Amino acid sequence: MKQITLNIDKALGAVTKEQVYAQEAKANECLATLYNGTGAGNDFLGWLHLPSSITDEELTDIENTANLLRSKCEVVVAIGIGGSYLGTKAVVEALNNSFDFLLKDRKNPVLLYAGQNIGEDYLYELSEILKDKQFGIINISKSGTTTEPALAFRLLKKQLEEAVGKEEAKSRIVAITDAKKGALRTLADQEGYKTFIIPDNVGGRFSVLTPVGLLPIAVAGVNIRDLVAGAVDMEKATGTDVPFADNIASIYAATRNELYKSGKKIEILANFHPKLHYIAEWWKQLYGESEGKDGKGIFPASVDLTTDLHSMGQWIQDGERTIFETVISVENPDHKVVIDTDSDNLDGLNFLAGKRVDEVNKMAELGTQLAHVDGGVPNLKITLPDVSAYSIGQLFYFFEIGCGISGYMLGVNPFDQPGVEAYKKNMFALLDKPGFEKESEEIKARL
Ligand code: PA5
Repeated sequence: MKQITLNIDKALGAVTKEQVYAQEAKANECLATLYNGTGAGNDFLGWLHLPSSITDEELTDIENTANLLRSKCEVVVAIGIGGSYLGTKAVVEALNNSFDFLLKDRKNPVLLYAGQNIGEDYLYELSEILKDKQFGIINISKSGTTTEPALAFRLLKKQLEEAVGKEEAKSRIVAITDAKKGALRTLADQEGYKTFIIPDNVGGRFSVLTPVGLLPIAVAGVNIRDLVAGAVDMEKATGTDVPFADNIASIYAATRNELYKSGKKIEILANFHPKLHYIAEWWKQLYGESEGKDGKGIFPASVDLTTDLHSMGQWIQDGERTIFETVISVENPDHKVVIDTDSDNLDGLNFLAGKRVDEVNKMAELGTQLAHVDGGVPNLKITLPDVSAYSIGQLFYFFEIGCGISGYMLGVNPFDQPGVEAYKKNMFALLDKPGFEKESEEIKARL
């Protein structure tokens, strides 16, 4: 199977190859710290060997549960937010037909999402659309106490029970949560739902290769064994026995940290394949929550190209020079579309006749890369052989291990997220949640 690659040649200029390679010892030390479990946040390193440690039994259990939901439901609602949502969305958007919702002879249930926002209209419209559908629910929350998914579940559980009866509803609800604690664990045990466990030592944003991601991804018809196989191979390709020069995760971590030190404070993850949009959303959570703390951290941003060249292109080319770009390039698209000759040629495009659309896209990609480099935007390039479950599995693990190394190189704990609590505290105080009386008084005095 072909491996994904990383090329930093076009990032050199803002920083030199010598500077990047001077980080070899530090990167190796950070990787070893992850493996030895001696660094900050070391109680959250369960993701490190997840790909190679998941058993055939566990995968079969996930597949069987997915098949049960697939046999009963035309729609499955995956409830979750942040790390309990973005990995699934990333894989399903990347691998499913872009117009999946219009396909007549569907082989897979439609996967919808809830609990990733508190939009009243969103929840109303979701509830309306589910009224004449056979649906099921996968409720995902590691803590079991996150407001957004808890609220969505309360509404959808009631709707499902009213539609099919309490007993049948129980067979269509799966809970993915902590082994012992939390509101969702208590509820699931009480109701007798089928459950899967999110290991204690795997944080939300590193949980895509646990049942959190694997169950809904399997429901959507994706081969989760291929996804895991890709991650396993990347685990091997980025291990402590791999020399720095060959370890793409270490090179990525070292390069972005050197760029950051040189004043490049924003990393833009760019793709030329619209199906990869949510890969970038997943990546933003991974790097944003892991590194943005203690007054430090690269701001992770993203663009879909060429679409955003017509909106953000000006800023990237010509705005403040505090950015660098990491392009995800896809070697081989799944399908072939060849451009025809047109006898009138009124659009003047006959010079493209006989070429594949992807050839035009690739030249747009190359032209953009060169233009951005000329404009002072260092460019890193990650090449995926294709958009397959195997390649995405590799990409996930590459970014995860790269994030662990990079966070340690930056000098932060990449595995906590204390900043996420601030809005929750204010929201609870404003909503008069019991236990927040003092905060309520204080915050209301500020209004
Ligand atoms: O990275 C994290 O841990 C968080 O962003 C969580 O993924 C997110 O808050 C959802 O949490 P939970 O799964 O506990 O509902």
